Amino acid sequence: MNSHASSERKNQSAIPSGFGPQTTAREALGNLDLTGKFALVTGGYSGIGLETSRVLAEAGATVIVPARTPDKARAAVAGIPRLELETLDLMDPSSIDGLAERFLATGRKLDMLINSAGIMAAPLSRDARGYESQFATNHLGHFQLAARLWPALEKANGARVVSVSSRGHRLGGVEKYYLMTLQREDVKRRYWEWKLKKKFYIESISNFLECR
Ligand SMILES: NC(=O)c1ccc[n+]([C@@H]2O[C@H](COP(=O)([O-])OP(=O)(O)OC[C@H]3O[C@@H](n4cnc5c(N)ncnc54)[C@H](OP(=O)(O)O)[C@@H]3O)[C@@H](O)[C@H]2O)c1
Repeated sequence: MNSHASSERKNQSAIPSGFGPQTTAREALGNLDLTGKFALVTGGYSGIGLETSRVLAEAGATVIVPARTPDKARAAVAGIPRLELETLDLMDPSSIDGLAERFLATGRKLDMLINSAGIMAAPLSRDARGYESQFATNHLGHFQLAARLWPALEKANGARVVSVSSRGHRLGGVEKYYLMTLQREDVKRRYWEWKLKKKFYIESISNFLECR
């Protein structure tokens, strides 16, 4: 990053897309032909992620859906064209590295990394490193995934990284004490905090790309 680019760093603002809460994924995609594009959608076999995977695949993209519950995933995505299942546990750094290594080994570019997987208001628990589960899943895991997949994102020459946040990010603040101790028992507040960090994450990535 050079000093000139750094001084032009901007905060992100809402995109006047014209879409709203009633807009379907299909409508948002319009008539785009995604033939030849590759997308990886975490949590792409459930909820928002499943709908995202479905419309991207129907528009021609090859969609990789990494699952931590393969049986559930297989049933959910049955019948969706061009969809490939993989394995991933965002709470496990070696699982993230493994997925990225396998993807890079294919030599494919990655046009879209869509981080939809997430847990909300989970009871206090920790990953093997001691990180709180929502922090590990919603934020750290996705950060590591984007970092490891970086060569494939670069290869796409214009890749997009999309991180599904929540309106709850407005209610979350970053309190240093809780960041250090991660002891907060208020599960909703922990979720809002991690959703706010997800916003920081996407701003960091876009600033990084703009400044290169
Ligand atoms: N639904 C809402 O009203 C709402 C509102 C605001 C924001 N959001 C955000 O939107 C995103 C999607 O929400 P949703 O309600 O559509 O989700 P969902 O149906 O609950 O699905 C979440 C997905 O994340 C996966 N997942 C959870 N922990 C994981 C881990 N450690 N490793 C890999 N995958 C993991 C789940 O897999 P398993 O099935 O194996 O657990 C599941 O496929 C989330 O980030 C959520 O915070 C949702």
